[in-house]
Amino acid sequence: MAASTIRSRKLTKTYGEHTVVDRLDLDIDAGEVFGLLGPNGAGKTTTILMLLGLVEPSKGKIEVLGLDPRWHPLEVKRNVGYLPDAVGFYDPMTGRENLRFTARLNGLEDFEDLISSLLELVGLAEAADQPAGEYSRGMKQRLGVADALVKGPSVLILDEPTTAIDPEGVVEMLALIQRLAKEEGVTVLLASHLLHQVQTVCDRVAIFVRGKVVAQGTPHELAAVDKSGNIRVEFRLGGEPSKGRAALEALGTVSGITAGRAPGSWVADLHSESLAPAVSGLVSKGADVIGVHRLDEDLESIYRRYFEIEEAEEEVPV
Ligand SMILES: Nc1ncnc2c1ncn2[C@@H]1O[C@H](COP(=O)(O)OP(=O)(O)O)[C@@H](O)[C@H]1O
Ligand SMILES: [Mg+2]
Repeated sequence: MAASTIRSRKLTKTYGEHTVVDRLDLDIDAGEVFGLLGPNGAGKTTTILMLLGLVEPSKGKIEVLGLDPRWHPLEVKRNVGYLPDAVGFYDPMTGRENLRFTARLNGLEDFEDLISSLLELVGLAEAADQPAGEYSRGMKQRLGVADALVKGPSVLILDEPTTAIDPEGVVEMLALIQRLAKEEGVTVLLASHLLHQVQTVCDRVAIFVRGKVVAQGTPHELAAVDKSGNIRVEFRLGGEPSKGRAALEALGTVSGITAGRAPGSWVADLHSESLAPAVSGLVSKGADVIGVHRLDEDLESIYRRYFEIEEAEEEVPV
């Protein structure tokens, strides 16, 4: 059995009467970029702090690289890089000096080459010897990623890594996250309330609302299939339009038939598994099937179905 890099079972955190994380089951595989997508207050930061062994769970199990962070907090911290939502550096020191400081704290020796290559990796080679206080917010966040990578972790946890960064900085950060996963094989857990960003970089996404995962899958899976497995499809049929509609109705497996934009086009809902039989059924009944297209609902409408996004105006489409 291949073990997940990060695994939780019924992970729960309560503060007094308030259940902040509610029986959370997570399975994050090695090398994937996993998105924890949810609005402010969903419980993302609390989950991360429990995974890192910094907050004690009320109930449930956690394994990070096969270790329980409650009993092995140091081993977990050694192998997991963490970029908190508010990253701080010593401003008068240069980017390079800040990384040297972290390297010494981690007990590393001979770290000059490592630091230069990390600065290169995060696109700060040219700014390496400027004071960190002069960096833009985006540059500071990328220095934060380099800082989290100094100890050579196999897992990187990023909490809202693009907050308050300008659009250009966001694009650079997202490209960096993808490069880390694809080229360096780092497993990434990305917590964000920003749908477009999660959709752009994540292999899999869990939509997290009030401490619970309400939907989980690849961005494509989440967008294509609702909870019942139904999909929306446009059928373009030649010939007499009313006959086309009758042929669809005769299938018995489609519902909610409405006229599409083009003449002879019909939009209907059906179960994803009955799409292929529907097409062959139409053909065998002599219908002139010109085209069949899935009208995949985008992840945004799924996300909105679960909650209103208060921060919508902050979103930067990429
Ligand atoms: N130490 C704490 N004591 C009491 N409530 C807390 C504490 N930490 C977080 N919470 C509450 O838990 C909920 C989830 O917070 P958080 O994990 O920060 O969510 P997110 O990161 O998704 O915005 C919020 O309602 C927050 O007020
Ligand atoms: Mg948070």
